[in-house]
Amino acid sequence: MGILKEAMFHIHLIMAISWIGGSVFMFVLGITLRDKKAQQEVYPHVGPIFGWFEVVALIALLISGFYLGAYYDLFKVLLHPNGTAISDAIVKKAILVAILTAATTVHFVIAYKTNGKERTRVQNILSRSSSMLIFFLNLFVMHYAIVLRDIL
Ligand code: HEM
Repeated sequence: MGILKEAMFHIHLIMAISWIGGSVFMFVLGITLRDKKAQQEVYPHVGPIFGWFEVVALIALLISGFYLGAYYDLFKVLLHPNGTAISDAIVKKAILVAILTAATTVHFVIAYKTNGKERTRVQNILSRSSSMLIFFLNLFVMHYAIVLRDIL
């Protein structure tokens, strides 16, 4: 087994843990930290650190994921699905990851622009719905990642 592939897989796993762990923690924080004053003290400091942490984790996930996909020759079946279990798993995972990346971009841009400032109603709705979407999509991405690895 190639050492580079092993390294990429370890990076992929550590970054998946960081990415999903971070999003679960922020979900818990969002539910438990209800006090407005406490929110105004905590979020402006924690937000940017969390945001960059998650961006680095997602980029590392995408790079290592693309490497692993190429290693297993999965892009052929991704572009030409053939109904096999592996083709199904990679297609579903790739679609979910694409939506996840788009939702993360929306969420990140709003968060970056409005940190410590008042948000408009539209910014609020977009920011909240994208973070809910990211949270739930993560659970499904994990599922298809496990299905994929079971077959490989
Ligand atoms: C948010 C993005 C992603 C997350 C959270 C994620 C998560 C995971 C996890 C947890 C595993 C290990 C599953 C297990 O051991 O049972 C895995 C494996 C894998 N992922 Fe991802 N992944 C992401 C993006 C990608 C992308 C974009 C690709 C390729 C296009 C990809 C390709 C793979 C492959 C090929 C494996 C199997 C590697 C092996 O068995 O050696 N992943 N992923």
